[in-house]
Amino acid sequence: MGHIKIDRLRKEYTERRKKSRQNYDSEGKCKNCGSHVVLDGINLEFEEGELVCILGSSGCGKSTLLRIIAGFDHASSGRVIANGRTVNGPSDDNIFVFQHSGLLPWKTAWQNVELGLRHMDNPQEKQELIQEYIDMVDLTGFEHHYPYQMSGGMQRRTELARALAVNPETLIMDEPFTGLDFVTHMKMREEVVNMHALLGKSMIMVTHFIDDALVMGDRIVMLGGSPSRVKLERKLDIPHPRNIEKNPELNELRDELYLMMGVSYVA
Ligand SMILES: Nc1ncnc2c1ncn2[C@@H]1O[C@H](COP(=O)(O)OP(=O)(O)OP(=O)(O)O)[C@@H](O)[C@H]1O
Ligand SMILES: [Mg+2]
Repeated sequence: MGHIKIDRLRKEYTERRKKSRQNYDSEGKCKNCGSHVVLDGINLEFEEGELVCILGSSGCGKSTLLRIIAGFDHASSGRVIANGRTVNGPSDDNIFVFQHSGLLPWKTAWQNVELGLRHMDNPQEKQELIQEYIDMVDLTGFEHHYPYQMSGGMQRRTELARALAVNPETLIMDEPFTGLDFVTHMKMREEVVNMHALLGKSMIMVTHFIDDALVMGDRIVMLGGSPSRVKLERKLDIPHPRNIEKNPELNELRDELYLMMGVSYVA
């Protein structure tokens, strides 16, 4: 995927209002359906290798936008262009880490990561790669644990290892740190930043945490409004590791983002 351009994207959901056998007229138009425009006039451009963080209040359409970028959902109008080609459906070039756990519960950590490499023929090479990704996310020794035997943080790290094993051009993550305790959240955040530096992958991540976006993002996008539009887009050319308190640009932007989300005072 690499370079991504989102061009005048609009997403409208049609809702059936009442139960009826005659929802559609002779021309196929829905007679008793309402509609809900979630996203409108979204124009964005992400450079290859960027880590983009998308913020916005609950229900503003962040997951919807990610699904459209990944090709799992269609825009009502407008389009997503990845590396010069219009996205029409899912592709092996990108991989999605879902908002809720996507591990197969009947497979071990090892087998879940292996799923990302199922097209690989050489068993020796495959084994080495699985171990490499397991080690990368600090799960050495837990290879044969099932998801129910792992903590929430370990499950999320397994998901990350599986996603990275696919070696996608773009890694798309929907709230990858949801449900983690504070310390694990901080560690995983650091891991993703390090992996981004190491692998140079394009990454798009939705988060509810403003500090995550400030600490991680090469670019920050804030969605909001009804329907949602891009309320703010900022490229951050600040080296890692970042310390928000010690950086006036990040400090100022943090206040601005909190204000945009309706929080006027942050301790
Ligand atoms: N399949 C669908 N059919 C109808 N409406 C939908 C569908 N999927 C999402 N929506 C609506 O679109 C809006 C945006 O949903 P979305 O899941 O993209 O929000 P979000 O920003 O990811 O929220 P959250 O932060 O809570 O995850 C919501 O109002 C939701 O009800
Ligand atoms: Mg969501």
